[in-house]
Amino acid sequence: MNNQESQQLPESRLSELTLLYQFSNTMLSTIRLNKLIHLILTAITTSSSNLFERAFLFLRNEKSNVLQGMLAVNRQYSGDLEIVGTSDVLESRWDIGDEIIARQRSTELCLKVRLTRVEIDSGCPLVKQIINDRSLCHSDASQCLKCTACNFIRPLCNGSFAAVPLVSRDNTIGMIVVDNPDSRREISSNHIHFLQLFANQAGMAIENSILYNRIQDANLSLKDARERLLHGERLAAIGEMAANVAHELKNPLITIGGFAGRLLKMTPDGTQEHNYAGTIVSEVGRLEKMLAEILAFSSKPSSCFTLCNLEEIIKDCFSNCATTFEDHNIKTSLTVDLPSIAVLGDAHQLKQVFLNLILNSCDAMPEGGDLNITVEKNDTDKRTVIITVLDSGGGIPKDMLPQIFNPFFTTKTHGTGLGLAIVNRIVINHFGSIDAKNGDKGTIFTITLPLVEHKVPHHQL
Ligand SMILES: Nc1ncnc2c1ncn2[C@@H]1O[C@H](COP(=O)(O)OP(=O)(O)O)[C@@H](O)[C@H]1O
Ligand SMILES: [Mg+2]
Repeated sequence: MNNQESQQLPESRLSELTLLYQFSNTMLSTIRLNKLIHLILTAITTSSSNLFERAFLFLRNEKSNVLQGMLAVNRQYSGDLEIVGTSDVLESRWDIGDEIIARQRSTELCLKVRLTRVEIDSGCPLVKQIINDRSLCHSDASQCLKCTACNFIRPLCNGSFAAVPLVSRDNTIGMIVVDNPDSRREISSNHIHFLQLFANQAGMAIENSILYNRIQDANLSLKDARERLLHGERLAAIGEMAANVAHELKNPLITIGGFAGRLLKMTPDGTQEHNYAGTIVSEVGRLEKMLAEILAFSSKPSSCFTLCNLEEIIKDCFSNCATTFEDHNIKTSLTVDLPSIAVLGDAHQLKQVFLNLILNSCDAMPEGGDLNITVEKNDTDKRTVIITVLDSGGGIPKDMLPQIFNPFFTTKTHGTGLGLAIVNRIVINHFGSIDAKNGDKGTIFTITLPLVEHKVPHHQL
């Protein structure tokens, strides 16, 4: 623009153009959506621009198809925009302090606007005109204030107002409403025209800011996913290493255990040598058990699903643990509601489940106690069976309950913390679930497994 032309422009036109120019500079350097909307409304309500006395901004939520109130600013709270950058007015941009933002946000009017939500398809003629038809609206023309169905704009402004769409590319992303409630001054067509130009830029700026935030969110979740993947890979590598080490240790351990067993038999009872050999035998047994658990946890389970009779599996476990029950003075009981209950599963893995639970209960009752297992049909879901393992071992401290199924969580000096992790994995592989809680005297583990639908003849189980 040369000097001669600028002299021909009226003062007000020049200041509007400057405002638009400064706004586009501002837009390029403001990415935070929150700040941007404060800048937009402050620019058009501030006394230096002398355009409107009050402004409201609504954004469209595409998912819910609702117009949502974001901000309202009136001149009293708009303050003056800080001009930052160079002294050249065309290269400068605006800024707004956090204090003013907080002040604008806390006004009663702003709180009211932020609670406003209008469904775009609600039939409101104003919303239709702005959002769907994308044309500006001057309240005198639209008869909006007379609309009896209105519960949207009338509670906010009770005089004449103007509204323009916020458009970005082919999308209407919201709208700006302005009015002059203090002076009751009519909104001039020049000002409305300026508002439309301004809203076009504002729409693009808001859309850019939303896109930028979306990219940033996507970036963060990508980074998070990458870290989790790396962590998972690292854990998998550690698991593989543990499995290899466990495998390598197994053979020499069997040899050591074998020779220690021979020494035990060769040395007379009561001698020191006999006691040493005894210690080696029992420690080797403990290590073998630990290695077996590590191998069971780290190897990929290969399941062989057949029809399994739960009663037989549990009885089998009881007979395997008979000496432990005797040694620990533990009384056991097994109650089976329906003897022909059958689940489709891997018998070996299901046995592992009950053995682990039974041995944990034994560990919890070193001075003796009761262990009761029940198998019954689920009354609430007839397609499943519920197995409860109940002991009188004092239970699990409440704060530990959420952790007991985590691998390596143990409270025992010689525990691996893998028993319940293995149990959990097997139950999940059988499309079931497991839960632990404290009863009156001890812990209750409840396992739910899907039942085989049809009745299975006994000889097939
Ligand atoms: N029946 C139970 N009574 C009390 N605590 C239990 C019982 N079963 C499991 N726990 C607790 O859960 C922890 C984890 O069990 P588990 O995964 O089998 O590992 P580990 O037996 O090697 O410690 C145990 O260390 C114990 O603290
Ligand atoms: Mg255990």
